[in-house]
Amino acid sequence: MSNQTPTIRRPSVTDVAKRAGVSVGTVSNVLNRPESVSERTKAKVERAIGELNFVRNASARQLRSGEVSTVGAVVLDIANPFFTEMARGIEDRLAQDDYTLMLCSSDENPEREARFLRLFEERGVRGVIATPSHGSLDSLLRLRDHGIEVVLLDHTSPVPDLASVAVDDVGGASLAMEHLIGLGHENFAFLNGPLNLRQCVDRRDGVYRTLQKHGLDPAVALEEVALDALNADAGEAGVRELWARDSGRPSALFCANDFTALGALRALRELEVDVPEDVAVVGYDDVMFASMLTTPLTSVRQPMHTLGWTAADMLLTRRSSGEDAAQVEFEPELVVRASSGAV
Ligand code: RIB
Repeated sequence: MSNQTPTIRRPSVTDVAKRAGVSVGTVSNVLNRPESVSERTKAKVERAIGELNFVRNASARQLRSGEVSTVGAVVLDIANPFFTEMARGIEDRLAQDDYTLMLCSSDENPEREARFLRLFEERGVRGVIATPSHGSLDSLLRLRDHGIEVVLLDHTSPVPDLASVAVDDVGGASLAMEHLIGLGHENFAFLNGPLNLRQCVDRRDGVYRTLQKHGLDPAVALEEVALDALNADAGEAGVRELWARDSGRPSALFCANDFTALGALRALRELEVDVPEDVAVVGYDDVMFASMLTTPLTSVRQPMHTLGWTAADMLLTRRSSGEDAAQVEFEPELVVRASSGAV
């Protein structure tokens, strides 16, 4: 006795034609050129489609028409609410033109990213939206050379003919540091992500520039922890490392994103360090949970849905390459809440 679940054959156009008593060509006309069919014949075919629960095979149709209605997107980590909120923006724009989204996480791993890009190419997607996992854009530029449109997301473009949608991360980090310096803090800690991510390089740049602008020497006023990932576990480990150092305790902690800050707050709570009384905390992204925490998180807001929507729009309106390539940089804004003690 086979324990295999029986495979139910998907009803075909031929099955619909037999059930309706018409030719396969007539069924195809009802599906693709309904205006060319009489109402009586159309009603017969539509009744057969309903009775058989027939669903058209989009991939076969796309192969015939050459028009593909799927866009691939590879981001760093869809477990990070920043990317899921951004993916929702992509999806909402694609849906306006009946496109679907194929979403993957690179986990900041170039090999994993390259594998997904190859899968997108094999599936013949309409285009690719990508948050690159490291400094090299080779895999993405190769994809574009193969005729697949690419838009960089959450990453500025190093070349004029490659579209990008990003936020000014140098300015964003400066907003966080100006806020903390303005509150009178002089000893800071910075939990940053891997420096092969452009976003982390720019945020570190913003931290350093702002300290120096206020006459504070980063070598004296700043304790840095370079995390190997931008997630809650890494943030928790980063705080434990900071508090295990025998250097002075920082009175202000800036985290490279809210996901990291969430882990940092968990560690501070377990170390019985009060926020903001003992240490002021600022995150980055302003994801949905930032305002919902017991001590709501001060954060540098990125327009996540708009970032995703804009990248998808560039792709669908063919502004992703050549002289038409658009490069958009949005400005972040500081959202002040209880975690930095300013309210
Ligand atoms: O893309 C790198 C980081 O920038 C992500 O972790 C996200 O949170 C954004 O802040």
